[in-house]
Amino acid sequence: MAIHIALAKGRIHKAVMKFLQESGYDFPTYTMDSRILIFEDATKSLKVTLVKSPDVAVYVERGAADVGIVGEDVLAEDSAGADVYEIYDLGIGRCRMAVAGIAGQKVDMTKRITIGTKYPRIARKYFEENHHSVDIVKLNGSVELAPIVGLSDVIVDIVETGNTLRANGLEVITYFMDFSARLICNPVSFKLKYDEIQKLIEAIKR
Ligand code: PRP
Repeated sequence: MAIHIALAKGRIHKAVMKFLQESGYDFPTYTMDSRILIFEDATKSLKVTLVKSPDVAVYVERGAADVGIVGEDVLAEDSAGADVYEIYDLGIGRCRMAVAGIAGQKVDMTKRITIGTKYPRIARKYFEENHHSVDIVKLNGSVELAPIVGLSDVIVDIVETGNTLRANGLEVITYFMDFSARLICNPVSFKLKYDEIQKLIEAIKR
């Protein structure tokens, strides 16, 4: 039986496609810069779709894909409560969630502060657990701008290399969570396509 895998578009899909190609899968119509969003390997055993990261769990939960690969940060923020199995830690796409502010500027964390973030759920939980009262401004990207333009006191965002923070004159105040890319699976597919899914995991491991 063929497996359908939904990959989070961007860094994750590029890394995973490289793994799959190196472990023998041949995707005749795939190139790194192609705009094609759905393609199959030459033996038609694996179908891949490239979707926005918050949609990976939607595809898998509803059975539009058997499995998916997405960052654990996205699972925690956008897909909390989705009825999917998390079956494998790929160990790629490692990043940390951080509170960051303008370099050299002390932020009085005892006052009510404003947080700019793409991750309102994760940010609120962290500050609540630490008994800080905060206002959250939900942004959709380029979060590093928020303290610079006065939208927020600090940001909560993922840091991978730290280059984006440095390039924009920001620094980490504290790290508070680690994330990596996860393989998730539809519960029915997990039973029906168990062997095929194990084969896919072996290919990714190689
Ligand atoms: C993420 C994140 C940071 C950057 C961190 O943004 O929000 O901006 O990557 O990576 P670094 O530590 O390696 O610099 P993304 O690239 O997803 O773009 P976006 O801001 O448009 O969401």
